[in-house]
Amino acid sequence: MKLKQLEGILGSIQQFSNPKLDLEQYPTGPHIASRLLYTAENTFGDVNGKVVADFGCGCGTLGIASALLGAENVIGIDVDLQALEIASQNAENLEVDLDLIYCNVKNLSLRGYLIDTVVMNPPFGTRNKGSDMEFLSVAIKVASQSVYSLHKTSTREVRFDVPQLYQFHKKKTVDLAVDLWRFVP
Ligand SMILES: C[S@@+](CC[C@H](N)C(=O)[O-])C[C@H]1O[C@@H](n2cnc3c(N)ncnc32)[C@H](O)[C@@H]1O
Repeated sequence: MKLKQLEGILGSIQQFSNPKLDLEQYPTGPHIASRLLYTAENTFGDVNGKVVADFGCGCGTLGIASALLGAENVIGIDVDLQALEIASQNAENLEVDLDLIYCNVKNLSLRGYLIDTVVMNPPFGTRNKGSDMEFLSVAIKVASQSVYSLHKTSTREVRFDVPQLYQFHKKKTVDLAVDLWRFVP
C-alpha cells in the first residue's frame, strides 16, 4: 500500500467523540500515523507478518495502520471502554482484525505472548506525571523486536526560563513538536 493511500484511509477513522483529558486522549493524526507505520515497515521490516501491540490504542489508528500494512496479528490495549468501542467499530468498517483488551497498560503482564513490535502514542505525562515512562518500561519488556513511541520534544530539551512577558493567546489549534523514537529491547 502506498503512503498516501494509507494516510487517506487513516483520515477516515472516527476519533474520540468525548475525549477524556485525564487520560490525555489526543488522537494521532493521519499524517504522523501513516509515516510512523510506513517507516516501521519499509525501513525496518517491523510490521508485515509480525504481531503488533498498540498501547493506549484509543480509537485504533496505529493498530489499524499496522493491520493495513500486513501485520499478522494486532492487539489494541486501552483503559477506556468508550474508545475501545470506537476502535472496534473502525476496525469493522475497514474490515481489519483487531484484538482489543480493556486493561491499564501499567498492569499489563503479557510475557509469554509473542509480541514483536509495540507502537504507541502514550500519554505524555502532562496529567499523570511519568505516564510516558511507565508505558515505555512495559513496552520494552514485552516487545521482542522494537518499540515505536511518540514523545514531546520538550522532554529532552534543556528549558530556558523566560518570565511571562506577554498575555497568553488562545489558538484554535496548536502544533506541538514531537519526536518519534524507535527502541530496540
Ligand atoms: C495520546 S492518546 C493516543 C490514542 C491513540 N493511540 C492514537 O494514536 O490516536 C493516549 C491513549 O492512551 C490511553 N490511556 C491512558 N492511560 C492509559 C493506561 N494507563 N492504560 C491504557 N491506556 C491508557 C487513553 O485512553 C488514550 O486512548
